[in-house]
Amino acid sequence: MARKAERIRDLYDQTVSHYDERYRNIQFSKFSETSVRWEDRDVVLDVGCGTGLLIEYMTIEPIIFVGVDLSVNMLKVARRKSSWSIFIAGDVRKLPLKQEVFSKVVSFSVLQNIPDPREVIGEIFRVSKRASSVLITALRKRITIESLVNWTRKEAEKRRRSVEIEQLNLSLEDVGIKCKSEAMDIS
Ligand SMILES: C[S@@+](CC[C@H](N)C(=O)[O-])C[C@H]1O[C@@H](n2cnc3c(N)ncnc32)[C@H](O)[C@@H]1O
Repeated sequence: MARKAERIRDLYDQTVSHYDERYRNIQFSKFSETSVRWEDRDVVLDVGCGTGLLIEYMTIEPIIFVGVDLSVNMLKVARRKSSWSIFIAGDVRKLPLKQEVFSKVVSFSVLQNIPDPREVIGEIFRVSKRASSVLITALRKRITIESLVNWTRKEAEKRRRSVEIEQLNLSLEDVGIKCKSEAMDIS
């Protein structure tokens, strides 16, 4: 594993005992502002799920919920919150998942930790279904909304998806995008 990823994993592994207390309200207000939602028929992936704050916040159980994170200690907390969910230790730059499985993919406040966020966005479009929706946020002090939109457009195009992108400027620390993707019409 690259040095930076190891450092990030160790940082979250070591600070997990304070994470929920310190960030629950902040993350919950991001969830609320982005109007993140899913239906009970959705197959959902949370990219960089951390301690599972999102699953704690949501009230609807989708058919399948998968969370992936590098920090085993963060995942231990997540597992205690939802026994029916699947939490996998892995690197979001190389998701240990098959292609075109998920109808919803979300990622809150993770991309600022990644040296080249396009790798993660590419992975999101690999594992999401052709018709699916994607919601990504990242700390604006590290990532601009323009970059996020451009990367999303390009990575979607590589996977032959057409996307409609909505830009999100959250009142707290994140920028984000929401997009619906469809298979590209190549006729
Ligand atoms: C700020 S926390 C956000 C956690 C969660 N999404 C939330 O809303 O509370 C960032 C998370 O990204 C994870 N992370 C950072 N780089 C990662 C990588 N390369 N692969 C997997 N997870 C990563 C960290 O372990 C941490 O749990």
